[in-house]
Amino acid sequence: MSQQDKQAPMLVVRNARVVTCDGPPEAAPKDRLAIIDGGMVAIGEDGRVSYVGPEIKSLAAAAANVVDAESGAVLPGLVDPHTHLVFAGSRVDEFARRMAGEDYQTIAKEGGGIAATVRATRAASDEALYCLAARRARVMRRCGVTTLEVKSGYGLRPASEAASLRAARRIGEEGHCRVTTSFLGAHAIPPERRGDRAGYVDEVVGAQLDAVVAEGLADAIDVYIDEGAFTLAEGRRVLEAGKARGLAVRAHAGQFADLGAAELVAELGGLSADHLEELSDEGAAAMAAAGVVGVLLPGAWRTLRQAAPDVGRLRRAGVRLAVGTDLNPGTSPTTNLPLCAALAVRDAGLTLEEAVLGVTVDAAAAAGFEGVGRIAEGCWGDLAIYAHDDPRALAYGIGDVRPLKVVLGGRVVHEEPRDGVAVW
Ligand code: NIG
Ligand code: FE
Repeated sequence: MSQQDKQAPMLVVRNARVVTCDGPPEAAPKDRLAIIDGGMVAIGEDGRVSYVGPEIKSLAAAAANVVDAESGAVLPGLVDPHTHLVFAGSRVDEFARRMAGEDYQTIAKEGGGIAATVRATRAASDEALYCLAARRARVMRRCGVTTLEVKSGYGLRPASEAASLRAARRIGEEGHCRVTTSFLGAHAIPPERRGDRAGYVDEVVGAQLDAVVAEGLADAIDVYIDEGAFTLAEGRRVLEAGKARGLAVRAHAGQFADLGAAELVAELGGLSADHLEELSDEGAAAMAAAGVVGVLLPGAWRTLRQAAPDVGRLRRAGVRLAVGTDLNPGTSPTTNLPLCAALAVRDAGLTLEEAVLGVTVDAAAAAGFEGVGRIAEGCWGDLAIYAHDDPRALAYGIGDVRPLKVVLGGRVVHEEPRDGVAVW
């Protein structure tokens, strides 16, 4: 079928430096960006990309809506592969204590930390939880983010875990962002179950998992395997139970201690192992062999004043790397994914190109979300349109890199005046 025969596009973006992020996966990062100068992207009525390539005048003439990118960079809508978007309450007091020298795990043992957010989240109405999360999603969209991975993990009982995931699903359904969900009942032992670890894990793989699977609320299962959290054996139980129910597998791995979670995710054919401040050569090799994406979370290592993961080790092993916000009230209170990309470059040594790929195509792989994170025919028509023309600006500006326009499924969902964004 020639381009002329195609349905008239809903939206055409022309005069663009299209950063497709759709180069061959085995190519060097620079080539994986696969930039088309003087390019055009057309999005059909179905919200999907119907054309990407050099400009075709007749396509623009037929389009319902034309955006002139004025030679600016047009990237795929960004993908955040790790968020705890659904929570209530603030932990600013705890943050102040930690900045004054108190330790995260000591505060957690005293009933603060995750348990504090669990109390606030359980106390919030379903509507309040949804509104808080949707507002955060819309703020993230202003940074160019159009797809989010969203975890539960602040409910920690069947009805509350289900409520959090329902709020996450509703954000996708109401068109704020695309959403993929992970069930994280094994985020912490809730205060009322402190003396009964085994019983709580039974509940996670029993009543909690039943509740979320029955309503189709989860796409993946996640577990926090670490010192002060769940053991490797407990994590295995949780991940295997989720996998048996058809969920994709991911884990919080090696944030404080390397308990072998990366190897476990690899063994189970999982999508991603996240954090990785502590990781062995064997863990990195297992991840690479199984195609598990490593998700770097600079907001957390910064807030906890930890050393960044060893990207050299991960790169040498051949692990694909993504970057997430880890948006949560305890260890990473940020909605700013480009800031996290910039920090991953400065602290962990990602190259600028790796960072751009890490919040687009490689983040989509970590999230297990098809058809996002790259601009190609058939993919979702999600775009971030910038005033600057160099995609590396995304990881160059420290926290002030915002697009002029954000497009979700062919609709412009956010717009800034040209003099409202800094030019890098
Ligand atoms: O990803 N590591 C576990 N979970 C969060 C922390 C959550 C919290 O402190 O509320 C994280 O860093
Ligand atoms: Fe997390």
